[in-house]
Amino acid sequence: MYPQGVLVYLKHFLRRDPYCFRSSLQDTVLSSKSFFKKFRTMDSKKGPEESPDTTSAGADSTTTAVPMEETKPSGSTESSQTSSTEPGLLPGETVVREGKAAILFPSANEVFYNPVQEFNRDLTCAVITEFAREQLAQRGVRILIPGEKDRVVVRLSKEKNGNVDQETSEQPENEQQMEEEGDKKEFITASVGERCEQGLRVLEGLAASGLRSVRFALELPGLKSITANDYSAKAAALIARNAQHNNVSHILQASQRDASMVMYEARGRKERYDVIDLDPYGSPSPFLDAAVQAVSEGGLLCITCTDMAVMAGNSGETCYSKYGSVSIKSKYCHEMALRIILHSLDQRAAVYQRYIEPLLSVSVDFYIRVFVRVKTGQAVVKNSASMKYSAATGPPVGPSCEHCGQRHQLGGPIWAEPIHDITFVQKVLGAVSGNPTRFRTSKRIEGVLSMVTEELQDIPLYYVLDHLSSTVHCNTPSMLQFRSALLHAGYRVSLSHACKNAVKSDAPAEVLWDIIRCWVSDHHTLLKGWLIEISLFKRYCLLKLRQFNAYKNVS
Ligand SMILES: C[S@@+](CC[C@H](N)C(=O)[O-])C[C@H]1O[C@@H](n2cnc3c(N)ncnc32)[C@H](O)[C@@H]1O
Repeated sequence: MYPQGVLVYLKHFLRRDPYCFRSSLQDTVLSSKSFFKKFRTMDSKKGPEESPDTTSAGADSTTTAVPMEETKPSGSTESSQTSSTEPGLLPGETVVREGKAAILFPSANEVFYNPVQEFNRDLTCAVITEFAREQLAQRGVRILIPGEKDRVVVRLSKEKNGNVDQETSEQPENEQQMEEEGDKKEFITASVGERCEQGLRVLEGLAASGLRSVRFALELPGLKSITANDYSAKAAALIARNAQHNNVSHILQASQRDASMVMYEARGRKERYDVIDLDPYGSPSPFLDAAVQAVSEGGLLCITCTDMAVMAGNSGETCYSKYGSVSIKSKYCHEMALRIILHSLDQRAAVYQRYIEPLLSVSVDFYIRVFVRVKTGQAVVKNSASMKYSAATGPPVGPSCEHCGQRHQLGGPIWAEPIHDITFVQKVLGAVSGNPTRFRTSKRIEGVLSMVTEELQDIPLYYVLDHLSSTVHCNTPSMLQFRSALLHAGYRVSLSHACKNAVKSDAPAEVLWDIIRCWVSDHHTLLKGWLIEISLFKRYCLLKLRQFNAYKNVS
C-alpha cells in the first residue's frame, strides 16, 4: 500500500541496458477476461454563466399541476428534442425527453442542457436506487423499481425431520435479510412517483432545467422530497414549470438560491439531506465545504468535476488552490483526478469530524464523477490524519530517474485507499443488468461497472502500455501478452476503466520495464535495437550532465 501522503511518483524505471534481463517472463499465459471500450466524446455545450442572485424568493411551485403525459418506457426512449404542440409549451420552446422525463426548454439555450451527460444522469439514478434500497431497508421501507423482477434467492430453511429443505423464494434479498435478522416489524412499500414519509431527502444544488431532479422524481422510489436549486432566475422558473409539466410538484420543489447557502442552512442534524447532487460548470470546490456538512449521517454525495485540465496536471498550482493537491501531467491523470477530489472531500469532512467512504468513482468522457458516503467519527478521522501526515517512507530518490533521466515530479497528496466499494458496485451492476430496459445507457453502465469491479483495488494509479513501449521506441506488445507476462512472474494485474491500455499491477516498476526489454530483444531488428541504444545513451549523457551541473552548483 502506498503511504497516504505526498506521492512521489518515479516516472520511469528503465535500465540502460535493454538486454540485461532474460527470463521465463517471455512465457505467456493467454488469459484475459475483460474487454474495454472507451467512449470519449467532447463536451460541446456549456450554458451561459449568470451572476448569482440570492435576493429573490423560491420559485413558485404551487400553481396547478398539469396532468402528466404518458411516458414511454425508458428503454425505448431516446434523448430527443421535439418542437411539438405539447400543452404548457411557450412560443419557441422545445421538449427534450430523457428517461421518463419530458423537459421544456427555451430554444435560445438560456438554461444549461447537455445531452452527452445522459450517462451521468442514468448512472446517478442507478446508484441512488441502490443507496435507497440499503438505507430504507433500515427504516422499514421496501422499494419497488419498475421493470425489476424479484431476485430469486435459494434459501436453506431449518432442518425438517433431519433433512435440509431447500426452497426458492421470490422475495428480494434485502427483504429476506430483514426477516432473517428476526426483524418482525411491518415494512411498507414505496413506489416511484409516490411521496414516502420515511423516504430520502434529496438536494440537487445546481439544477439548471431540473431535468435530473425530474428524473429522480419519476424514476426513483422512496423519496420524501427533492429540492432542485439554481441561482439563475430563469433556471428556477423553468424547474418549477418542469415539475408541473411532469406532474411531480408533490415531491419536487424549485428553489432559487446560492447552492452553498442552501447547504449551510441545512447543517443542523434534522435538516440535513440524505442525498446531495452537485453537477457544476467546472470545479465543485466552492461547494464542498457546505456539502460535507449538509449531508446526513451515512448520506450520499454525488459530485461531478469537469475542470479536467486543472485536475489532469495542466495547472498544478490552480489544482492546489482548489483541491489542496498538486496534479501531475501524466498518463494516469484521470485516476489521479479521482483521487484528488476524494482527498479534497476527505480533508474538508475531517474539519467537522467526518470522513468519507467512496462507493463509486468514475472517469467518463470529459469529466469525473464520485459517489461517496459521509459519516461522523472522531477516531476514524484521527487515524486518517495520522496516516496522511506521518513522514513518508520508501527509497529516497535523487532529482532525476536513475534509469531514463527524466526529472522526478512531486504531486499530491491524493486519496490512496480504494476508490470504489466493490460490494456496492456489484449491487448496482446486478440491478442494471437485471433490468436492462430501465436506462437507455444500460449497456454502457454495465461495461464501465464491469471494468470497475475487475480493477485492483489496492493499487493506486497505472501505467499505460503504449507509453511504456514508446519510451523505448518499440512496437507495443498486446495487452494479453503483457498481462500474461506479469501473471507468470507472480504478480497481480488488471485494467482500469479510466484509460484504455492501462495496466494496474503490484509488480515493481523494474519488472514492468524488464518485460518491455524482453519484448524488445525478441521482436526487434538490429536497427531498432541500435536506435534504442542511441536514445538510451542520449538520456544517460543528459543525466550525467545534470549531475555534473548540480555538483558544480554545490561546490
Ligand atoms: C452544469 S449546470 C447543471 C446541469 C444539471 N445538473 C443537469 O444535469 O442538467 C450548472 C448550473 O449551476 C448553476 N449555478 C452555478 N453556480 C451556482 C450557485 N452558486 N448556486 C446555485 N446554482 C449555481 C448555473 O446557473 C447552471 O444552471
